[in-house]
Amino acid sequence: MKAIILSGGKGTRLRPLTYTGAKQLVPVANKPILWYGLEAIVAAGITDIGIIISPETGEEVKAKTGNGERFGANITYILQDKPAGLAHAVKIARPFLQDSPFVMYLGDNLIQNELNQFLDHFKEQQMDSLILLRPVANPSAFGVAQVDAQGRVVHLVEKPKVPPSNLALVGIYFFANTIHAAIDRIQPSARGELEITDAIQNLIDQQKHVEARQIEGWWLDTGKKDDLLEANQIILDTCLKSDLRGDLDAKSQVFGRVQIGAGSRLINCTVRGPVTIGKDCQLENCFIGPYSSIADQVTLIDVELEHSVILQGATITDIHQRIVDSVIGQRAHLKTAPQRPKALRFMIGDDCQIELA
Ligand code: TTP
Repeated sequence: MKAIILSGGKGTRLRPLTYTGAKQLVPVANKPILWYGLEAIVAAGITDIGIIISPETGEEVKAKTGNGERFGANITYILQDKPAGLAHAVKIARPFLQDSPFVMYLGDNLIQNELNQFLDHFKEQQMDSLILLRPVANPSAFGVAQVDAQGRVVHLVEKPKVPPSNLALVGIYFFANTIHAAIDRIQPSARGELEITDAIQNLIDQQKHVEARQIEGWWLDTGKKDDLLEANQIILDTCLKSDLRGDLDAKSQVFGRVQIGAGSRLINCTVRGPVTIGKDCQLENCFIGPYSSIADQVTLIDVELEHSVILQGATITDIHQRIVDSVIGQRAHLKTAPQRPKALRFMIGDDCQIELA
C-alpha cells in the first residue's frame, strides 16, 4: 500500500497567503496542515508516500517537510507542472504508484477518524475504490455522491446545481490500480481539469466495486479563511497540551491549556487557553484569548487578540480594539497610534481583506 498527498494546486481561495506560500504549509495550531495528513497516513502503517508539488511552492514544501525521516516515512516528491485536476495528479504519480493500491489524501484536508478502519475495509473487500462521505449543509460546493442501501456508490457529480444528496466527498480516497485505466478513459471537465469524480464515476459505469463510508468525526478542509480558523479552533480544542518554555514575568498570567515556545518572552500579559505561542516571540501588555495560534518570531505589543492565527514574523502594536477571527500573514506589520488615530495609512497587498468593524 502506498499513499499520495496532493500539495500542488492554485490556492486561490486563500489569497493573499498563497501568493507567497503553499496553502498546505499554512499552520493549524502552529503545525503545517500538510503534516497532519502525513502523520495520519504513517499512523495507518503506510510509509511509502508521494507528495504532489507545484513549480511555484514545491521547493518550500520540500524544504520544510524533508525526506520523511522525522515522520518515519519515505517521501518521494512528484512535480505537477500545472494544476490540471486531482485525477491528473494521480496520472503523473503513476511511475511512483506503479500497480500498488493507494490512499490519496488532499493536502489541505484533515479528518478526526483514523484511517485504519477504512483501510482494512477497503483491503478486505478488494474494492476498486472506497470514498469517504460526510453530510454537509451546502452540497453544491462539493463533489456529491448518491449511495444505495448497501453502501455502493450509484452516482457521483462535481459541484452540482441540484445535488442528488447532502453527502459530500471528503478529500481522502482509497484506490486499486484500476483507477489508472479509468483516468485514461475520461476527458477534462468544463473547467479544464481531469476530475477524480469523473474517474470514479467511470469505475462505477464499468461495474467496478466502489463503496462509500460516512465519517462520524469532524472533517476540515482548510481552503478558505473561515475554514482555517475553524480547523485551528478544533485542533487547539482537541490536541493541545500545556507546555510553558518561554519566560513569563511576575505580572503575566496563564489560564487553561497554553503552549509557549522556547525563547519567547511575555511581559504583563494574560493568556487564556487554548492558545499556542511559538518560539522567540515578544509579547508585552497583551491579552491573548482562546483559540489563538501565534507562530515563531511574532511581536505583539499592546494588543488584545482571540480566535486568530498569526503567522511567522508578524508585528502588531498599539491596536486598541480586540482583534478577532483574523489571519495575519508572515512578516505583516499592523500598528496604530497610541491614542485614537487621526488617519489610517495602509500598504496592503492584493486580495487582502481589512474590516474596521
Ligand atoms: P483544491 O482546493 O480543490 O484546489 P486549489 O488548491 O487549486 O484551491 P482553490 O480552489 O482555492 O484555487 O485542491 C485540493 C487539494 O489538491 C489542494 O491541497 C491542492 C491539491 N491539488 C493538486 O495538488 N493538484 C491539482 O491539480 C489540484 C486541482 C489540486
